[in-house]
Amino acid sequence: MSGAPATVAVSPSRTLLAEREAAAAHQPRGASVAITGLSRSFDTATGPIDAIRGIDLSIRAGEFCVIVGPSGCGKTTLLRIVAGLEHGTIGSVNVAAPDRGVPKSAMVFQGRSLFPWLTLQQNVAYGLKVQGVDRNTRASLAAELLQTVGLSRFAKSYPHQVSEGMRQRTAIARALAIKPDLLLMDEPFGSLDEQTRLILQEELLKIWDASGQTVLFVTHSIDEALVLGDRILIMSAQPGQIKKEILVPFPRPRTLTDVRSNSVFAPLFTEIWGVLRDEVGGGRLGQAGATQ
Ligand SMILES: Nc1ncnc2c1ncn2[C@@H]1O[C@H](COP(=O)(O)OP(=O)(O)O)[C@@H](O)[C@H]1O
Ligand SMILES: [Mg+2]
Repeated sequence: MSGAPATVAVSPSRTLLAEREAAAAHQPRGASVAITGLSRSFDTATGPIDAIRGIDLSIRAGEFCVIVGPSGCGKTTLLRIVAGLEHGTIGSVNVAAPDRGVPKSAMVFQGRSLFPWLTLQQNVAYGLKVQGVDRNTRASLAAELLQTVGLSRFAKSYPHQVSEGMRQRTAIARALAIKPDLLLMDEPFGSLDEQTRLILQEELLKIWDASGQTVLFVTHSIDEALVLGDRILIMSAQPGQIKKEILVPFPRPRTLTDVRSNSVFAPLFTEIWGVLRDEVGGGRLGQAGATQ
């Protein structure tokens, strides 16, 4: 590992930002999502597991929707079903693109998801290659996105030569490259140190403000949920159901410091933790009971 600094300030490329601002100016260009009666169970050696049960959820175009919930409550399962990587046992998911075309979604996972044999730039360009975009266009779009996430200097580096924060930035740039209508993020900052996490949260807010994309974001962190989200959905312990919905009142565009110093931040944090604490405790007790 090179130990290169991960705290590179973002310097969004003008053309990319201008394009996104124009697109987002008055009209979100993201997809809308309608989930109805969605349940998923898995057959395992010890019997079926109900991962999620009876999820009903509508996400409007351009919304930043955050899911928090205890470990094992089905957050990843839900995201994978919305991404089309997995299917529900019953229920339906409908993702509608704003132009009524085929919606494009992209997923950012926690931890190692880059191809280790490709440079950062090649990783970012990968989805474009799959879409058949020509080599020159791919290269210029990838270079532009790497600039957006502050990584131009590392375009020719390989994932193992840069820090974890830089790899996550690259994964975000790769997801943005295909201009998704829906960005699905599964604890993307979960393995990062606190400072890198704060910087990436701020960068994501800027990118989202300019893009108009719909985001469905999973996190363990109440703080992160409040900083980023328009709406927070709190899931119950397994089987995961939506237990509570919180509308986040902070104005946009947001900065981390504005949000944290807002007088409503602490009461909202306490309210969310109150709901989560019951679920985390209940889930642990339930699991302990099941193994005894
Ligand atoms: N492919 C699978 N096969 C069997 N069980 C699974 C599978 N995927 C997830 N599960 C189980 O479903 C539950 C929810 O998992 P997951 O969606 O990963 O939760 P979370 O992301 O909230 O931690 C867990 O009990 C997990 O073990
Ligand atoms: Mg998960």
